[in-house]
Amino acid sequence: MLNVEKKLNTDTNSKDKRHLKVCEINYKNNLDSDYTEKMESLEKSFDYAINSNHFWSEPELSILYGTPLYAEASPAQKLVLNHLYWTSQYDYIAASEASAIHYNQVTSGVFSHFGEYETLCLTLDRETDQEYSHIHAFQKISHKIKTALFGKGLLGSNPLKSSNTNLSKKLLPDSLQKFLTTKNRRTSPSDIEYRALRFINKMMMQNSSYCYSEYLQDIETKGNVIPPMTRGYIGVAIPLQLQKFLTFNWGSSPFLACQHYTYRFTGNLALKSYEYRYSKYFRDLERKEAFIPAPTAISHYHLLDESLHTTTSQLIGRDMYKDFPKPTVYEQVSANAITYMMQRGFLGELSGGMMSGFRGDATFMALYYKILRSRIFEMSHQDALHWMEKCLCGEHEGFHVNLKYHHRLHTDLCRFTSNLEYLWLINRELKIMASGASISNAIQKNQNALQQFSASIAA
Ligand SMILES: [Fe+2]
Ligand SMILES: [Fe+2]
Repeated sequence: MLNVEKKLNTDTNSKDKRHLKVCEINYKNNLDSDYTEKMESLEKSFDYAINSNHFWSEPELSILYGTPLYAEASPAQKLVLNHLYWTSQYDYIAASEASAIHYNQVTSGVFSHFGEYETLCLTLDRETDQEYSHIHAFQKISHKIKTALFGKGLLGSNPLKSSNTNLSKKLLPDSLQKFLTTKNRRTSPSDIEYRALRFINKMMMQNSSYCYSEYLQDIETKGNVIPPMTRGYIGVAIPLQLQKFLTFNWGSSPFLACQHYTYRFTGNLALKSYEYRYSKYFRDLERKEAFIPAPTAISHYHLLDESLHTTTSQLIGRDMYKDFPKPTVYEQVSANAITYMMQRGFLGELSGGMMSGFRGDATFMALYYKILRSRIFEMSHQDALHWMEKCLCGEHEGFHVNLKYHHRLHTDLCRFTSNLEYLWLINRELKIMASGASISNAIQKNQNALQQFSASIAA
C-alpha cells in the first residue's frame, strides 16, 4: 500500500491552509443554524388554501412568463402559473439533492483516507442530513399544491403516500430506493458490465487503491451496484451508463473527488439564480410586515442552508484540489469531459417558458401541455398545441428576461472556472453555455421539438 502522507502536497502545512480554516468556520455556522428546522416547521403546517391568493415571487418566476399566453391569462391563471413554477423547480431540486446525497458519500469516502479532512467529512454528513429534510419538504408541499390545483393523478402521484417506510425510501428515486433496500440491492456476482467498468477504472487510475471510496468499497463488498440518477442535475447531463463509470472515477481519485464539487458548485449557483429572487421577495414582504406565503419562506430558508453548502463546494472545487498531486492526463481529460457534458446538459440552451431554465423547452413541453389541457386553462388538444407554438416558436419578452438570467449565471460561473487551470478553454470560458444564449437558436429547436411532441401525442 502506498503511503497516504506521501500523496499529499507536503509543501503546505495543513494548519496554514486557509480553506481548511474556512471549512471549520463553515461547519460551525452550519451547526449553529436552524434553517432546516424552520423549513420542517413550514412543511408541517402547509395549507395551499392559505397561500393560494398570493404571488410567491415576482411574476417573472412564472411558467410561460412574458409569452403571448401570459399576456392574455386571467389574474387567477397568472397566480397558478406562478405557483406551478415553484413546484416544477422544486421537483427538479428534490431530484438533484437525491444525487447530492449519493455523491456526498462517494467523495467523503475518498477524503476520509486523509487525516486532515475530518471536519470536511462531518460537514458533508450534515449536508446530507439536511438534503433529506429539504427533499421531504419540497415533495410534500409540491404534492399538496398539485393535488389542490388538479386533483389526484394529472401531474404525478404522491411520492410520500406509502406508509411504513423509512425516510430515505420515501424520498429517493426508485433506483436509489432499491439500492438502499438490502433485500433488493444485491445483484448477480456476474454483473459483467459493473465489473468491466470497474476494471477499466482500475486500469486508468493506477495506484489509486489507497484512496478508493470507503462508501463504494462497501457497495462492492456487499455485491451491490451503483444506483443510476435518472433526473436532477446529474441525470439531465450524464448518460446513465456513463454515470457508473464516472462514479468510480469520482470515488477513486482525490483530484476527481474535488472536481466533483465544481459540478456541485455549478448546481448550487444555478439554483441560487432563481432562489435568490424568492429570498429577496421574502425580505421585501418582511420589511413591509406583509403576509409571507409559506413556499416563499421555504425558498428563503433553503437559500440560507444552501449558501453553506455552496461554500463547501467552492472550498473543495476551487482550493482543496491543490492539496493533492497535479492531475494525470487521464484525470484531466475526465474532468474536462465531465465539465463539457455538464455545460451541454443543463446550461447549454435557453428556455422560453421556464425562467432561469437553460435546458431546451423540449424538456418542459409535456408540462406546458398538461397545464393548458387542465381545468386551469381548459383548452382542447388543438388549442393547446396552437398556444404552445405561439409561446415557444416566436420571440417574446420571456426569452429576453431569461437571457438576462443566463448572462448573470454565465458571468458568475466564469469567475469560478477561470481559475481552474486544468480546464480546457471551452470549459474554462464555458463556451457551450455561452452559445446557448441565442433566442433564434432556441426558437429553431423549439419548432423541431414541437413537431416531434405533436406527433408523439397524436400517435
Ligand atoms: Fe437542499
Ligand atoms: Fe445542498
